[in-house]
Amino acid sequence: MIVIGSDHGGLELKEEIKKLLQERGIACQDLGTNNGDSVDYPDFGVQVAKRVSTGAAEKGILVCGTGIGMSIVANKFPKVRAALATDVFMATMAKEHNNANILVLGGRVISAGLAREMVCAWLDTEFAAGRHQNRLDKITALEGELKITCC
Ligand code: RB5
Repeated sequence: MIVIGSDHGGLELKEEIKKLLQERGIACQDLGTNNGDSVDYPDFGVQVAKRVSTGAAEKGILVCGTGIGMSIVANKFPKVRAALATDVFMATMAKEHNNANILVLGGRVISAGLAREMVCAWLDTEFAAGRHQNRLDKITALEGELKITCC
């Protein structure tokens, strides 16, 4: 299950990504926003990140105008590894090296076609593990040291 959310700046791209997930037969829960009214990206970022953080959803996709605000919000949550990507290489590496469980995109930065390619790259790439797992373990340890808890 992939949870997906956006603000008004990412709405159009979110709808395109939803179509892609449907085409690929991937279950998707859309947590809004659902119209073009100006909203605050943290409200929607929190909903997606909370579900990934607690394990209610395996993966998430967040879209705002640049992707920056959604990245900042999502990475406040333990066990969330949210990666802002602007090209296919970054989307691929986000999974291969960082095992990112949330992909963040900028609706005012990339085209719908590129976003489709990037989402496919992120979904279809395997985490390389090995030395990359050691690095993720250090991030998990840091969450413990900083006493970052969720919900
Ligand atoms: C909204 O205008 C815009 O600030 C937001 O979509 C995002 O780009 C923030 O990082």
